[in-house]
Amino acid sequence: MLRILILGSGGREHAMAVNLSSSPLCDELWVHPGNAGTRHWAAKDCPDWRDFGTWSRWVREHRVDLVVVGPEDPLVQGLVDQCKGDPELAHLAVLGPDQAGARLEGSKDFSKAFMHRYGIPTAKARTFEASERLEAERYLDTVNYPLVLKADGLAAGKGVVICASREEAVVALDMFWVQNRFGNSGSKVLFEQFLNGVECSVFVLCDGNRSVTLPVAKDYKRVGNGDTGPNTGGMGAVSPPPFADNLFLQRVEGRIVRPTLEGLKQEGIEYRGFLFVGLMKVGEDPYVIEYNVRMGDPETQVVFPRLGPDMLQWMYGAAQGQLPHGAPWVDPRYAVTTVVCSEGYPSEPKTGAMMQWPNEPGDDRYCFHAGTAWKENQVVNSGGRVMATTALHPELDQAVLKSRNLASAVDFDGAFYRSDIGDDLLSGNRSFSRNGS
Ligand code: AMP
Ligand code: GLY
Repeated sequence: MLRILILGSGGREHAMAVNLSSSPLCDELWVHPGNAGTRHWAAKDCPDWRDFGTWSRWVREHRVDLVVVGPEDPLVQGLVDQCKGDPELAHLAVLGPDQAGARLEGSKDFSKAFMHRYGIPTAKARTFEASERLEAERYLDTVNYPLVLKADGLAAGKGVVICASREEAVVALDMFWVQNRFGNSGSKVLFEQFLNGVECSVFVLCDGNRSVTLPVAKDYKRVGNGDTGPNTGGMGAVSPPPFADNLFLQRVEGRIVRPTLEGLKQEGIEYRGFLFVGLMKVGEDPYVIEYNVRMGDPETQVVFPRLGPDMLQWMYGAAQGQLPHGAPWVDPRYAVTTVVCSEGYPSEPKTGAMMQWPNEPGDDRYCFHAGTAWKENQVVNSGGRVMATTALHPELDQAVLKSRNLASAVDFDGAFYRSDIGDDLLSGNRSFSRNGS
């Protein structure tokens, strides 16, 4: 029997908690800091992980066996290394890579060089620093447009600008280097070739030696219907997207997943955790857009409901360096999630409104909380992305409809959502051949 602490406060962590709590091996579960949806599993007196000394004491006192790290921040900042270095936490299994592994997400410059070293297909790119502005502007005369400019470091999914022209690229460079919009994260910028295709996310659970590939998902990043407006953390997701067929997935496995794991080993990185490979399917071929060192949000809200109660064994096994053999059980139904957001998201979400939502549990529908909080005995919206409404159905069009109906029943002042999640994937709709971002 296992005592589990999930770190994080989003819809991703709520979806993981629902799955892990259904395992017969789950003795006790905490989600920290959590949200209104996970209050049932609240770790009330758990300190912040940044205060490592008191946090690790809490972990010991509560006899935690497994820590699942939801977001990237603790990984990039070295929480796993601190746990490994603490002799009093010798029996603790932590699911997430150490700081060296987390560089795959923490530095786009590092991950691009990594892909080049191991022959992993990706868009061509060059990196410039703020001090090289003249050279960078000369380079802008030599490239094709659109051009993709990316902050090297973490930028909460917002450090990527697709520039239709040289003029737009110059404006973006001002944002990175003059206005310093992303601080240090934007001091180095990747200038990357634009890939035209459809996007999807492949999730791999690794134990440092072996890996197992989990269901694939498609995320909808732009805020508006028809893929318009600014990029967000993700407005909805579908698993599996029908275009990710067997041939494509075999290519992903052979050209990307295996060489990535081999590369990590060659670099001496014992990667235990989720690896999220963001891909562009160009023709029939996969190219890596980015690596993340955690599960996606809102992709988890469609991937985890398709996984069974045996996931705890897989996750604990991965964290201990011993994945089970075989493959985890996967529900063949489609899963679709629609993210209900606060007015003003992604720039300035308005929060604090009382909420109502459909509250009928079932194995074909879920309301996963993200930016929600308890205030004076009521649930209020407390962030940009508030709730992910997931529905499962053997038919994709039905899953799409059910997820959207659930989203329309989430009620608070200023609530909005994309009402086209999954439409591009329905048969008869040709629009999915355009760039999915
Ligand atoms: P990233 O943070 O690297 O995932 O980029 C955010 C989004 O920008 C991606 O999900 C894509 O939609 C888009 N994007 C990033 N790189 C490229 C590229 N090379 N070509 C086309 N679109 C891209
Ligand atoms: N949905 C994209 C991400 O989690 O980074």
